[in-house]
Amino acid sequence: MGSSENFDMREKAKMNAKQKWDRTARFYDVWSAPMEMMGAKKWRALLFSGLPEGNILEIGVGTGINTEYYPNENREYTAIDISPKMLEKAKARAEKNDKTVDLIEMNAESMQFPSKSFNAVVATCVFCSVPDPVQGLREARRVLKKDGMALFIEHMRPGGRVLGKIFDIMNHATSRLIGFNINRRTAENIKKAGFEIIEERYLFRDIFRLIRARPYRVKDS
Ligand SMILES: C[S@@+](CC[C@H](N)C(=O)[O-])C[C@H]1O[C@@H](n2cnc3c(N)ncnc32)[C@H](O)[C@@H]1O
Repeated sequence: MGSSENFDMREKAKMNAKQKWDRTARFYDVWSAPMEMMGAKKWRALLFSGLPEGNILEIGVGTGINTEYYPNENREYTAIDISPKMLEKAKARAEKNDKTVDLIEMNAESMQFPSKSFNAVVATCVFCSVPDPVQGLREARRVLKKDGMALFIEHMRPGGRVLGKIFDIMNHATSRLIGFNINRRTAENIKKAGFEIIEERYLFRDIFRLIRARPYRVKDS
């Protein structure tokens, strides 16, 4: 396949993702409310309690649900999303939570920031939906400073054989209808993208996990 065909396919995937998430923006908060009540609020608070200081990038900010947990002191926030409708909601949410955030429409797979711009990157429930997750995670590593920290809460394919297969089958519906995949191996993808995982905490079975990672460094011998 030629490079222009590759480019066309990437553009098409980007447009599809944008349209899907624009459609979802209107009901996302209602739809995700049960998950928030069942534990996600606590998980988000936990994730942001370990946020380093400095320039922070949130990838896939969605409706801005995390802005409530952004610590104010010594931090500057930038947040991106592929969906303009999500960003509209995030703007209102950030204002309501009295947070200053530079909100930008941008594709996680091809970020416009210079390398090594941020002290921390954060993503919650995002790499289940980015069309090429390893490419998005490589970009997260590129824009992160050498001693920076990446923080994730992601759901992923469970390890058990039967449950794993059930998730594979259900994924046909979730990926088409809502735009996210429930059978991604995101911990492996994080490593593939050049991160070293320094903490992996199971939040709900092995499905929801909190991961702290840093750019992989070749150790001195
Ligand atoms: C499941 S929602 C999660 C929203 C929020 N982070 C949360 O925790 O509720 C996934 C978000 O990722 C965004 N997204 C999907 N693909 C993207 C991409 N390639 N680049 C940037 N954002 C993307 C969607 O628009 C959506 O807002």
